[in-house]
Amino acid sequence: MPALTEIRLEEYLKLSQAEKRDYLKRDGRIFHVLFAQQFGRDDLESLGRLATRIRFMAKSREGMSFLRETLSDKRAMLYFSQPSTRTFLSFCAACQILGMTTGEVRDTSTSSEFKGESREDSVRTFSSYFDLIVMRSEIGGLAERMAWVLSNTERPVPIINAGSGKDQHPTQALLDIYTLQRSFENTGGIDGKTIMFVGDLARGRTVRSLSLLLLNYRDVKQYFIAPPGYQIGSDILEALERAGARYELSSDFHSLIPEADAIYMTRVQDEWDKSEGRASGQFDRGRYSFGVEDLKRLKQKAVLMHPFPRRTEIDPAVDHDPRAVYWRQMRNGMWIRAALIATIFGRGKMIDEHAASNI
Ligand code: CP
Repeated sequence: MPALTEIRLEEYLKLSQAEKRDYLKRDGRIFHVLFAQQFGRDDLESLGRLATRIRFMAKSREGMSFLRETLSDKRAMLYFSQPSTRTFLSFCAACQILGMTTGEVRDTSTSSEFKGESREDSVRTFSSYFDLIVMRSEIGGLAERMAWVLSNTERPVPIINAGSGKDQHPTQALLDIYTLQRSFENTGGIDGKTIMFVGDLARGRTVRSLSLLLLNYRDVKQYFIAPPGYQIGSDILEALERAGARYELSSDFHSLIPEADAIYMTRVQDEWDKSEGRASGQFDRGRYSFGVEDLKRLKQKAVLMHPFPRRTEIDPAVDHDPRAVYWRQMRNGMWIRAALIATIFGRGKMIDEHAASNI
């Protein structure tokens, strides 16, 4: 198994995501979590199974007591230099479920980065005190660079990318897949389903990561529905083409609703407008939103998803419909992140064995 200590950063960064995959493992299991292409179908299935085990165990006092001992010897650093509610809190809750203590930096104006400390030195500092670093950054690829840096120190702790620039949000994609697994468990699973992405797809890192994870499933059709200028990146479409996946681009959302098994709404990511010199005020939000009337055209077994935060893309009146699964999707983030952290530290088997002994 190759290691990040054996390759220079410049050479590593030139590799394809498929070539990088093995560098991110340790002892044969996932160590750094940096991008969606790291995960194969077996990984998604075993993470989903473990998340479900944890979810059920957490319902009882005895189960929670066991879970809280699982990683009570480990500490996690939550380093979020970009705003977050769900990702931050679900990682925090996942750590608490597993008994990990946490530290946090959520605003670099309160850390020594304000005094000019480099990101590299900051991350190395975190690794001196913690056993895992979960990081969100506005800089694409930063988590990957930091994973290489840390791997080449005497404290090579794992890094989880909790959202990087406009490129990837792999753990959001894991919770999205877990939500799809649960939603379709009685209708044949994810294989063969039609998944529709709607909104600002050009800057939606959750869509990019989920689209790539869906390549692990057979005969899935992906629709990308966005106004001109906001379509999904050509790199994702090239990945779909290489994989022989079915996809279609459109700007007409409402007429396509009846075709979807899952609709994944997204907001306009206008926080990037300034750096891109664009004005998303012109984005026709009405054409890319879902209202109560649209429920009539949605298949009975379809699901409506959103990574959140939402603005006007889904009318809150839709929340009461059983097909609106976005609140469950959000909660799934806590379970799948707990499963991921337990897997990184090789403690998944221990949870499985405990659950099996208590049946
Ligand atoms: N879905 C998501 O990443 O939400 P937050 O930005 O609130 O973490």
